[in-house]
Parts: sequence; structure tokens; C-alpha cells
Amino acid sequence: MADHQQAEHDYFANEPPPKDLQANVTLAREFVDRHGAARRRLVLVTSGGTTVPLETQTVRYIDNFSAGTRGATSAEYFLSQGYAVIFLHRQFSLLPYSRHYSHNTRSFLDFMREDNGRVTVDEQHQADMLDVLRQYTQVKRDGRLLILSFVTITEYLWDLREVARLMRPLGPRAMFYLAAAVSDFFVPRDRMVEHKIQSNEEFAQSAADPDATVLPPATRTEGRKLVIDLEPVPKFLKQLVDGWAPDGIIVSFKLETDPSILVKKARYALDKYSHHLVIGNLLSTRKWEVVFVSRLEGEKWIRVPEHRRTKSFSGVPSLVGSADPAAKQDQSETSQS
Ligand code: PMT
Repeated sequence: MADHQQAEHDYFANEPPPKDLQANVTLAREFVDRHGAARRRLVLVTSGGTTVPLETQTVRYIDNFSAGTRGATSAEYFLSQGYAVIFLHRQFSLLPYSRHYSHNTRSFLDFMREDNGRVTVDEQHQADMLDVLRQYTQVKRDGRLLILSFVTITEYLWDLREVARLMRPLGPRAMFYLAAAVSDFFVPRDRMVEHKIQSNEEFAQSAADPDATVLPPATRTEGRKLVIDLEPVPKFLKQLVDGWAPDGIIVSFKLETDPSILVKKARYALDKYSHHLVIGNLLSTRKWEVVFVSRLEGEKWIRVPEHRRTKSFSGVPSLVGSADPAAKQDQSETSQS
């Protein structure tokens, strides 16, 4: 067995599947079969951040910044282009269409008013909301959007693997658009403590026995310090490309904070995994510029012009109303994680 196959085997053997896996698979199978029979293009969009629980009965976890803006916005564009979309997102992160009215500093109630005992939408928001509502209603009528959710890194990977396998028979009519912010490090189940980590030394689990033959718990207190000893999550992109969906179109994202290495790392990922496209972005400028790195076209920057980085009606940076779909990225600056 190759190293990455062994890593996959070990990961799924050690990490239990999420409780809702079978329910998700049932929904996804019906969706894939229906759209496959209609010969429609289908895309799996992953979105939002994965968490890393520190205890089995989880009180504390590690999270990341992602609000799911990229995934939710992109899903709307795929839907507008006729795709069927499986939207695998972090629970409570942004959703296609409703994202225009959620997670903002203003409540959705601020878009409404009372009119003779009835609730109506404010005059100034009528046109925008009607536009969003029409798109949403059409997509629902067509049954082209399936929404699934995850919270932890393990739930995400189980769902990704099962849905990818279901999509495999679609060949190149299946696309994988991996915009989720995926944890690189985690606490394996066999090194996870059961109960809430204690800060009071009298109740804390004692530090590892230096003579023990098994690895110590990955989270433990040493004196008054909390020590967290994370292990790497295997890179599942390799498995997706080679095993789970070898004929699918695969688009991965590369997130960096250091501009000097972004393109280099995007190229490295393309060479290493041999998929179709890597979209690079920097944390600080991700809402305004991305770089597409592909074998066919090399390196191509897409930038939203300064004057189009406007404030939307919901009071957050937005490009709503732009005629250029590529420019209509990232609606809302939120911090939910
Ligand atoms: O949600 P927003 O706030 O809008 O932010 C959008 C975004 C910045 C999260 C998005 O544009 C983005 O860049 N997503 C990918 C983030 C990420 O996981 O980057 P990475 O450099 O750690 O990983 C690169 C690729 O490897 C990713 O496609 C990931 O799916 C994959 N990966 C990562 C970890 C892992 N263990 N296995 C993987 O296969």
C-alpha cells in the first residue's frame, strides 16, 4: 500500500464516522442519481472552517477564521450557470442566498417593516431582495441545491470521501471545488481525553508517565500549563485525485499569509497532486484578489478594481450589482469562528 493510502486507511480506521453520515449519503445518492440521469453538471462545493475537538465530550476546540463567504458566494454562481450543487459547509456558516441577510452587523429584521399589521420588506431593499428571492425560489423548484453540514475535521473528511465516491461515476461532469478551510493538525481519537480539560491542578489529569509505552494524551496539563500536542491530518487531496474521483474536475484553494510564497506553494500543490486548478489567496486580500494556477494557463491574477469594492446595502464590503460574475466575490466580512 502506498503511503497516502496507508494514511487514509489509518485515519478512517481510527476516527469514527459522524452520526449523520448515513443520512447524508442517502440524500447525496438520490441527488447525484437524479442529476446524473439528467446529464447535468454537478459540483461539490466545500465551505467554512473545520474544527479540531480537544476532548471527546467536547467543550473546547480549535477553529479557524473562515466564515464560508467564498463557498456560499461561489455556490450561487455555479447555480446561476445551471450546475447542481452539493454544498458541504460548516454548520452555521454562510449559506447561498440567505448569506445576503445573515451574519451581518444588522439583523435581517432591519430589512423589514410593519405595514398595517403585516410584515413587509423595506422599500429600499425591495429590488435586491426580490432578485435574491427569485434565484433562490428557482433553484429550490429545480431541486438543484443540496445542503449538507459538518463541524469537525473528521466529519468533513468522512462526508467528503463518501460524497466523492458517489460522484465518481459522473466522470468529468463532476467538479470538486474545495473552498473549505481544512485543519492541518488534529487530535487523534486514541489520544483524546474524554472529559473537559481541567485548569485546577488538583483536578487535572496528571502528566504523562515517561515510561509508558503508549503515547500520552494529546492534551494534558503540565504544572499549570496546558500542553497541546497535535498530529498532522493526512493530505486528502491526493486520495481525492487518485482514488475517490479520478476523472472529476478538481479545484483546490491555497491559503497563505506571506505573499512571497503564495504562487510557489500553489504551483507545488498543482505539481504534487496533478489536479486541474489551484486558486491561491492571501488571508488579508482574499476578498479582492485571487491567483489561478493551472497547467494550461500558468498563473493568472483576478482582481476586483478598487472602485468596485463598494459597501452593499447591508453595510458590508460587497460587489452586488456588478456585471462581472468573477468580480462578485465575498459579500460579508463576518467573524463567527
Ligand atoms: O470562507 P472565507 O472567509 O471566504 O475564506 C475563504 C478561504 C480563504 C477559506 C478559501 O478561499 C481557501 O483558501 N480555502 C482553502 C484553505 C486551506 O485549507 O488551505 P490550505 O493551504 O491549508 O490547504 C490547501 C488545500 O489542501 C485545500 O484545498 C484543502 O482542501 C486541502 N487539504 C488541506 C488539509 C488537509 N489535511 N488535507 C487537504 O487535502
